[in-house]
Amino acid sequence: MAQKILDRFKLDGKTALVTGGAQGIGEAYCYALGEAGAKIAVVDINLALAEETAHNLGKQGIEAIAVKTDVTNPEDVAKMVKTVVDKWGKLTIGVNNAGMGVWRSSLVQDFSEWRKILSLNLDAVFLCAQSEARVMEKAGYGKIINTASMSAHISNTPQDQAAYNSSKAGVLHLTRSLAAEWAPKNIRVNSISPGYTKTALVDKLLETPEGKTMLPKWLEKVPMGRMASPEDLQGAIVYLAAEASDYATGTDIIIDGGYCCW
Ligand SMILES: NC(=O)c1ccc[n+]([C@@H]2O[C@H](COP(=O)([O-])OP(=O)(O)OC[C@H]3O[C@@H](n4cnc5c(N)ncnc54)[C@H](O)[C@@H]3O)[C@@H](O)[C@H]2O)c1
Repeated sequence: MAQKILDRFKLDGKTALVTGGAQGIGEAYCYALGEAGAKIAVVDINLALAEETAHNLGKQGIEAIAVKTDVTNPEDVAKMVKTVVDKWGKLTIGVNNAGMGVWRSSLVQDFSEWRKILSLNLDAVFLCAQSEARVMEKAGYGKIINTASMSAHISNTPQDQAAYNSSKAGVLHLTRSLAAEWAPKNIRVNSISPGYTKTALVDKLLETPEGKTMLPKWLEKVPMGRMASPEDLQGAIVYLAAEASDYATGTDIIIDGGYCCW
């Protein structure tokens, strides 16, 4: 007989890293995984913010460290995983969440901007997953959770963001491909696809003149009539990190207030 269901959501004794963990969705993931019992490495390019988040997690009784990492840099990524393993002896959960968005017409987008978006949103997810899986393979168990987006499933309107949408569609299929490849090694790879979520990333875009006209148009298309808060995503991250989801791999959980239903 398996353990009771709520016990299979507990993460006691597990260790997790969350990229882009200093703020926004990543920060909400750090709290969710930490409250469920895991030790947390807050990974971010912004060390000061990561340290503040780790400190605040500590005040809630969650053991946490800050790890400065540029996830687009392969050496940094290898160091990030080593730091966690050196500190706690293992890495059970890797959440590859750091990402960026830009609105730009594809007719005028510089190739360098396209590359920058793809490098952070897709290449870095591969680099992190690869480094994490090398450690998980040795342990014989692991959970990798990538942040995709509803933009992996639909093309947002009215803003132009082909690079972002393409990068997130790539994350979705990378997730499925790695899931199939690593299932025999007992490593699960899944993703979460948030809809519009109130974070610094979106606030920055909404402050622009174009952005100010955007919000009502977005909300018309969200059946639930509001943006998500990062807390709306916390249940899914705990599920995918926990033993409760051990038979789930290559799957994506869309949390978008119903946007993709239409
Ligand atoms: N907010 C939304 O509406 C929304 C919707 C769908 C998907 N997403 C995705 O969720 C993820 C998090 O988004 P958010 O809204 O919380 O963003 P955010 O901008 O609030 O936070 C992103 C974090 O990533 C960090 N970061 C940026 N570049 C980095 C790098 N090279 N190395 C390490 N860390 C880096 C930033 O410092 C920041 O702390 C992204 O992948 C984003 O595409 C967001």
